[in-house]
Amino acid sequence: MKKRIVAGNWKLYITDSTRAKKITSTLKRAAKSYSGVSVVLMPAAPLISTVSAAAGTGISVGSQTLSGFGEGAYTGYLSAESVRNAGATWTLIGHSEQRAREIEQMPAAGITDDMAAQQIHAAHAAGLSVMLCVGEVERDPQGAHFGTIATQLTSALKDVTKSGLKLAIAYEPVWAIGKSSSEAMKPADLEEMVIFIRKTLTDIFDRSVAVKIPILYGGSVDGTNVHDLLAQGGVAGFLVGRASTDAASFLEIIRAVGQQSR
Ligand code: PGA
Repeated sequence: MKKRIVAGNWKLYITDSTRAKKITSTLKRAAKSYSGVSVVLMPAAPLISTVSAAAGTGISVGSQTLSGFGEGAYTGYLSAESVRNAGATWTLIGHSEQRAREIEQMPAAGITDDMAAQQIHAAHAAGLSVMLCVGEVERDPQGAHFGTIATQLTSALKDVTKSGLKLAIAYEPVWAIGKSSSEAMKPADLEEMVIFIRKTLTDIFDRSVAVKIPILYGGSVDGTNVHDLLAQGGVAGFLVGRASTDAASFLEIIRAVGQQSR
């Protein structure tokens, strides 16, 4: 069976290196027991090298974003090469907290689908695996959210070729992020969306490529809802925000996924 993925998006919840090292070391010891699970930690950029040093080989590290630019006069941007050199092998791209339409306080800021496409190109050129986040702001009774997801996928992946593809999709409905576990997506709805995403990926690439791309779910995942989401949702793993910032809570999720992978 292919390895499942459990990724922790630390956002700006964890800002000091002592805490980052402690959580990473705890997870590293425990992750050894679950060989069917690939654990990825995505700390804020200044902590990537710290987490990567503490993680060793058992845990992978990723950045929460990067820019589409390489070396040059780009003050304040994060290049794919720089995060790779700091120890990252993954990057998140297109998280809703980075996308233009979601940032209410800064309407003009944030990335567009075109920028996500450039970032994917830069990430692949530097050898990073991409976790592309897609998700609708609201569910629409007529099903318009399926169109939103198809547009996000096709725009971001428009220039991506099949060769050298290192991609996972993280489906994160915006309405389910940062809530309580009971407000996460229902497993049956998730299953339907996973089938739709797989079909869209088949249209973009082809079936042989699409079946190999892991589709993860994110949005208020914790130890209480992880079992049902995994058993019925049809996902290959999870992208976890808040519950990944506490070693015990994150381990509950890793354990649940690890046990179902045996
Ligand atoms: P959450 O965040 O688990 O806190 O809902 C998920 C995410 O935004 O990646």
